[in-house]
Amino acid sequence: MTDRLINKVALITGGASGFGAGIADCFVREGARVMIADRDASAGKAKADALTQAGHEAAFVETDVADVASVKNAVATCVEALGRMDTMVANAGIGQRPCPVEELSDDELTRQFDINVKGVIWCCKEAVSQFRVQGSGNIVATASGIALTPRPKLLAYGAAKGAVVTFCKGLALELASEGIRVNALCPAVGDTPMIAEFMGGELSDAGKAQFRDALPMGRLITPRDVGEAAVFLASDSEAGTITGAAFAVDAGRCV
Ligand SMILES: NC(=O)c1ccc[n+]([C@@H]2O[C@H](COP(=O)([O-])OP(=O)(O)OC[C@H]3O[C@@H](n4cnc5c(N)ncnc54)[C@H](O)[C@@H]3O)[C@@H](O)[C@H]2O)c1
Repeated sequence: MTDRLINKVALITGGASGFGAGIADCFVREGARVMIADRDASAGKAKADALTQAGHEAAFVETDVADVASVKNAVATCVEALGRMDTMVANAGIGQRPCPVEELSDDELTRQFDINVKGVIWCCKEAVSQFRVQGSGNIVATASGIALTPRPKLLAYGAAKGAVVTFCKGLALELASEGIRVNALCPAVGDTPMIAEFMGGELSDAGKAQFRDALPMGRLITPRDVGEAAVFLASDSEAGTITGAAFAVDAGRCV
């Protein structure tokens, strides 16, 4: 299917890599114009350039989602360059190296909550201001399957992603009467660079196979899997009454 997001503009945080890059690919295929917002300037610019060279409309803005001024600038840049913002894809995030609760450090908790929780909240807050000016808009935030069925030794990451789901559900209710929808994607472990973090910092085929075999459908989640789900949730014609969902993209992991 194509053209489901024709005339729409999306800002995609973390769009330089992994799931965010897959979301960008699916959005432009459906006719959207996209602003890639990432703290990795060279990868983000390269992604926007590649989309442009493929005939799509895309741009890049360097953004740190943990910094509210930087998020404000990203939204303003998107509106200035592309004219509007119909979907905020609050996807940027960081992984965690597994550790038992006694070894959890204050630094790790702060990092997790600054980026994975406050980063999503700042993006939603700035998006709502823009949606009110336009009179429309929706939010797709990337949480995680871990928010639905927690895992041992990933407690800071799990708590952060749980907070994202609860925040999105509350915001969905707060904005429902205005027609602004808010949904959280909950992918299981994915085939992206982040998987190395969940393996303790070192990517290995054996580690990947272990993650894959733990999923009931026997395959890791791909950037395209997440991108297709994000397109559906962003599409008002298809998902017009879906709000407050914690939408699993998980090969059966959270059943
Ligand atoms: N890969 C998985 O197994 C998995 C599973 C469930 C959920 N998720 C979530 O999916 C989202 C995307 O992860 P991914 O797997 O594509 O990882 P990734 O590492 O491939 O991509 C993450 C992107 O976010 C960017 N980023 C990180 N911190 C940022 C910040 N402070 N400001 C702006 N950009 C920042 C990075 O530069 C990178 O481009 C994350 O929220 C992650 O928690 C990942």
